[in-house]
Amino acid sequence: MPRKPLMAGNWKMNKTIAEAVVLSQDISNNFERDWLDAADVLVCPPYVDLKPVKTVFEFDKLDIAIGAQNVYWEESGAYTGEISIPMLSEIGCTYCIVGHSERRTLFGETNEDVNRKVDALTKAHINPIVCVGESTAVRESGKTREFVCAQVEAAFAGIEPEEARGSVVAYEPLWAIGTGRTATPEQAQEVCASIRATLADLFGADFADETRVLYGGSMNPGNVEMLLAQPDIDGGLVGGASLQATSFIQLVKACL
Ligand code: PGA
Repeated sequence: MPRKPLMAGNWKMNKTIAEAVVLSQDISNNFERDWLDAADVLVCPPYVDLKPVKTVFEFDKLDIAIGAQNVYWEESGAYTGEISIPMLSEIGCTYCIVGHSERRTLFGETNEDVNRKVDALTKAHINPIVCVGESTAVRESGKTREFVCAQVEAAFAGIEPEEARGSVVAYEPLWAIGTGRTATPEQAQEVCASIRATLADLFGADFADETRVLYGGSMNPGNVEMLLAQPDIDGGLVGGASLQATSFIQLVKACL
């Protein structure tokens, strides 16, 4: 079975509820339902927008998935400012981004934190989108694949293959995020292939074969085709270009 592509919008800290409703309506109004036969489509708005965005898609009977950008691994308790997995489940989130480089660099998230989140999410049947990627310094040192594969291993440490099924890995080189500087299709393919090889080492060839590996980092309508043409790139995790319906829809159509 070929892998079904996934196009995921990461809205980051953009869009108030009113703006999020407008954007999701705009996506919905320009969307053709049968596209979802060929590609999975996901948007990850800020927490406060999850329910309103879900309501728009539900009202239009459109099976665009919603996901969170982060989560905390404990079920409930004295963790001021955090959001739990049961809260996300109740809203209908089926995915959650984990270990985005902005969380790692700006908020001190470690590989161990990522692992705990992946563990808790997979147990609750929410698919983690595990973000990995190297800095410019790591790339210049020639250790990109080593670094990225170690992040993948750490994220899935101690997790059973049955639980991990449905997880997604997103390769996002830090130097390409929000910079307009995309990895070349060859650079992205090389690392995504190594990520798949690491998944095969961890969980077996079948698991690696069915698991989606995305590329993220300045993906846009101009470069999406070349990136998706690579054998180990199964879709995108998109920031900037997901904030407008026209460009996001162009990215979705590139998956068809
Ligand atoms: P970008 O962000 O598409 O704006 O580079 C991607 C991401 O950080 O997920």
